[in-house]
Amino acid sequence: MRLDGKKAIVTGAGGALGGAISRALAREGCAVAGLDLRSDGLDQLRTALRQDGHEAEGVQVDLCDFDAVQSAVAGIRARWGGIDILVNNAGGGMVRPFAEMSGNDWQQMIDGNLTSVFNVTRAVVPTMLERRSGRIVSISSVAALRGGRLVRHATGYATAKAGVIGLTKSLAIELATEHITVNCIAPGAQLTPARDNDTPERREALLSQIPTRSLGRPEDLAETVVFLCLPSARYITGAVLAQDGGHSI
Ligand SMILES: NC(=O)c1ccc[n+]([C@@H]2O[C@H](COP(=O)([O-])OP(=O)(O)OC[C@H]3O[C@@H](n4cnc5c(N)ncnc54)[C@H](O)[C@@H]3O)[C@@H](O)[C@H]2O)c1
Repeated sequence: MRLDGKKAIVTGAGGALGGAISRALAREGCAVAGLDLRSDGLDQLRTALRQDGHEAEGVQVDLCDFDAVQSAVAGIRARWGGIDILVNNAGGGMVRPFAEMSGNDWQQMIDGNLTSVFNVTRAVVPTMLERRSGRIVSISSVAALRGGRLVRHATGYATAKAGVIGLTKSLAIELATEHITVNCIAPGAQLTPARDNDTPERREALLSQIPTRSLGRPEDLAETVVFLCLPSARYITGAVLAQDGGHSI
């Protein structure tokens, strides 16, 4: 196990990609604390990880609430003594033509995909600074690189996910001498349960834009997160790694 004894926080752990990332980190020896707004997926994940002999926690919290996030992270830190890895994965898109977006729609996208990343990262960085060690990996999107061509009418989402890239690069520089790396993955369309609703026409339209003509596998994405957390990735920081079958080329 390549990350034996490490303590990891994974946001959105109750969802499809967050679950895959949590399982992959646990398999490598991490204790995993999942943070999520919804308790159902979180409870299932915690039970499954514990049954497999892993140390796991689940904390239900709205990541858009600064104070609630600070206290959730302080609780984990108090129980575990520190946090080695943070995966900012929670988020999600909204499809709405720009001319029909309300101010509330915009704020929802910025809060859910960007402010949430600030809130959790802000809560975790002090403990990483104290230990002069840490790994932060955030999940952006191909929408940030390509303006959301895979999902039309995703202006708010694409903008917020581009903000995650800016945060990654800026924070990577700020923490570079502290042995804390900050990286970001920009996935293309993943084969998650949300894709089960695709009509054959919709699926073909998606695949026609992707050079490999295939969707991403959540397990592969999870392995990329693991890779960025390994000791051998110590020299990689501020990177934006597209994992999209070549869609962003
Ligand atoms: N699935 C894809 O094809 C794809 C592609 C590119 C990027 N992404 C990104 O990957 C991440 C995970 O996507 P997914 O497909 O697993 O989605 P998902 O909907 O299955 O999971 C997202 C999880 O985040 C949680 N969440 C959302 N907002 C929250 C908040 N304010 N507080 C706490 N929890 C919150 C949800 O409850 C959910 O469990 C998202 O950031 C998404 O934008 C996904």
